[in-house]
Amino acid sequence: MSTDNEADPAQREEGPHSIVIFGASGDLAKIKLLPAIYELIREDLLPEHFFLLGYARTKMSDDEFRAICREAITKNSRSTKKAGVDEELLKKLLACTFYQAGQYGDAADFAKLKTRMAELETKHKTDGNRLFYMSTPPEAFEPIVIGLGQSGLVVRHATTPWHRLIIEKPFGHDLASAQKLNATLNSSFGEEQVFRIDHYLGKETVQNLAVLRFANSIFEPIWSYKYIEHVQITVSEVLSADDRGGYYDQSGALRDMVQNHIFQLMALVAMEPPAALDARSIRDEKTKVYKSIRPIAASNVVRGQYGPGILANGKSTAGYLDAKGVSPDSTTETFVALKLYIDNWRWSGTPFYIRTGKCMPTKVSEVLVRFREPPRTLFLKQHSAVVYPNELVIRVAPEEGISWNINGKVPGGTLDIKRVSMSFDYADTFKTEPPEAYERLLHDAITGDQTLFIRGDEAEAAWEVIDPIVQRWKNSTKQPLQYAPNTWGPAESADIFDGGVNRWTISSETAEPILACALPQTGG
Ligand code: BG6
Repeated sequence: MSTDNEADPAQREEGPHSIVIFGASGDLAKIKLLPAIYELIREDLLPEHFFLLGYARTKMSDDEFRAICREAITKNSRSTKKAGVDEELLKKLLACTFYQAGQYGDAADFAKLKTRMAELETKHKTDGNRLFYMSTPPEAFEPIVIGLGQSGLVVRHATTPWHRLIIEKPFGHDLASAQKLNATLNSSFGEEQVFRIDHYLGKETVQNLAVLRFANSIFEPIWSYKYIEHVQITVSEVLSADDRGGYYDQSGALRDMVQNHIFQLMALVAMEPPAALDARSIRDEKTKVYKSIRPIAASNVVRGQYGPGILANGKSTAGYLDAKGVSPDSTTETFVALKLYIDNWRWSGTPFYIRTGKCMPTKVSEVLVRFREPPRTLFLKQHSAVVYPNELVIRVAPEEGISWNINGKVPGGTLDIKRVSMSFDYADTFKTEPPEAYERLLHDAITGDQTLFIRGDEAEAAWEVIDPIVQRWKNSTKQPLQYAPNTWGPAESADIFDGGVNRWTISSETAEPILACALPQTGG
């Protein structure tokens, strides 16, 4: 199944290289990539022989691009936000920063880029090792990939020097386009040269999932349908789609969040223990999860679109259909909730519930694993005993950490039970701020470690699950259900729970007790 052909982990180091960012004047570069490169220099994770080349359609000089870098780094780097910019370091980075303007699909412009690269590589002694980053709108992906191959800027399967490509989602907008994109990628690059970024995999808590599950022997024996009643994943955002209506309207919550970020979380929770914690083994196991998902029934999917109103942050928003860049009769969903089943020996019968949306009451990314009820008999013998479900909550954002919700006895003469939480918080425990996801991922691509990147067949397997929903919606004229900002989406999202009882919960809300144990009426 696996097609990766990785470098030996023991050989990995940050050797001389260059980074070329396509779309260097865009928001992703300014907000995430340039600050991440600065942080890597600060952490001494970039080599002495290095240069950065920005490439985009806008004409500008090296100095004008350096001014953009300076502003982006000063404003957006995690260390500069706290302690201001380190001028010496910034100057060091800017001294090896350059810019080249050009079209994305133009052979003559790629020939110019090749000449420029050769000059800079000689000057900066980068040995011809190249990391390309596509931070462009998706329409530019295929022209760039073809241009890189045809110009000879990239040699397929090259190892000495190495040539790699980082690509940021969307990896296609449905199964067919994802397959086409993969075929194009594979015409210029070997799979071992392609690094498909899902920034969720760069988050500490997400990486910690494998440690939690496999470095602690208490979890594996109970990690199955036998003990787990259901799993739910909530990824919510307070903001509307106002700033990026043009992009969002082509995408929607299912494609923007579920097919990638949320499926990655789900796969790491659900996968079998891999044979090793390496790229091939982990990506094989995640792919198997997607392949085991039962087709999702239409009745198990709820889609919503926000109307006008006041956001949780107090600001008002127009309804989605009035957002800039959004078609006035758009059926694009800004909220989706769904239930799915992973039909394998571990999970058969345990539903996985997923919800994500814009304009929600709070920004949170959480996985909640709810365990089955304890036998009731014991508590039925007591007056007013109330038992809560055990839950393991994996908090990805805003505060990264893990909590156990368990039952504890309230001190006193009666048997009162209270839900108590045992919590582990990353920041408190390790007294250190985790690196930004992009720092970790960029560094891994530089050192050739694909573990935290999505493999081509894995992306396609995820699309195979989502595609029938995408096609169903494409062929439907039905509008998504409306919901008001600052709510958890359409009330119908509760109906997908088994038994129709709303079980959506996040750690900052109190869960309903599952057993309200009044004394049974006997003799009747
Ligand atoms: C991006 C989506 O991939 O992830 C955005 O395109 C979304 O729409 C963002 O806002 C959420 O990321 P995070 O890290 O803030 O949860």
